[in-house]
Amino acid sequence: MSVKILSGKELATAIEAEQTALVARLKARGIEPALAVILVGEDPGSQVYVGNKIKTCGRLGIRSVDHRLPASASQAELEALVERLNNDPTIHGILCQLPLPKGLDESRILRLIRPDKDVDCFHPENVGLLAAGSPRFLPCTPAGIVEMLRRNHIATAGKHAVVVGRSNIVGRPVSILLSQKGLDATVTVCHSRTPDLAAHTLRADILVAAIGQPRFITANMVKDGAVVIDVGMNRVADPTAPKGTRLAGDVDYDQVAPKCSAITPVPGGVGLMTIAMLMANTLRAAGQ
Ligand code: GUN
Repeated sequence: MSVKILSGKELATAIEAEQTALVARLKARGIEPALAVILVGEDPGSQVYVGNKIKTCGRLGIRSVDHRLPASASQAELEALVERLNNDPTIHGILCQLPLPKGLDESRILRLIRPDKDVDCFHPENVGLLAAGSPRFLPCTPAGIVEMLRRNHIATAGKHAVVVGRSNIVGRPVSILLSQKGLDATVTVCHSRTPDLAAHTLRADILVAAIGQPRFITANMVKDGAVVIDVGMNRVADPTAPKGTRLAGDVDYDQVAPKCSAITPVPGGVGLMTIAMLMANTLRAAGQ
């Protein structure tokens, strides 16, 4: 079977061109869209992700405001920063990169971010609106997955989507999105306690891997002709790589790709779409 590689790069470039026009329209109305990004601690992965988000803002003409706090920052300090950004009328979106260092209460911070500036769609009010079918924002990675399917003309209606992973960032919200009216997939959510996982994944027309374990999905778990969406971003040792490590997805790409009708690469797949959807939410927040 010939496999289509679903490139996030090409799509993100096309989306950026559309968004550049949106930024110009906002600026013509006297609005300079602005995203505040909070990074606590020195996690190398998070530093890269935040850096990429800030660079994308720069390319689009969105003002980004970078707040870096040490891992030793207190809950009160972080909450004071969020409150300040909540009350700053020049800031339209607030993103607090996860995970937070140990000792900080993630859930309290996510509840504190003003829902109309919550461009990650992590606030319970926004999660509730999404679940109720009238979203204010779409969560970035799930929206990126759906946009990638849509722009590649991959139908979801009547298809069986199997999501492996139940995280608040990807697994749970993507399952809500795919089963919504208009997308109309039949969705199975699997997780670390699911017995006989392969029995479920083998029935997937669309398989979303969001487990966080490198090469977890192997060829014997995938139906011939399936569409495979790999959300994994795992750093693995690779003595041949210049830094001694490289990114690996949750899917054993080399084994699985020949069985698929379409598959996302890592890197260069879903990750770029996540950033594109973050930009979309920021522009939405600025225009509302
Ligand atoms: N950590 C991993 N993915 C994300 C994301 O989409 N948003 C935030 N804020 N943190 C993350």
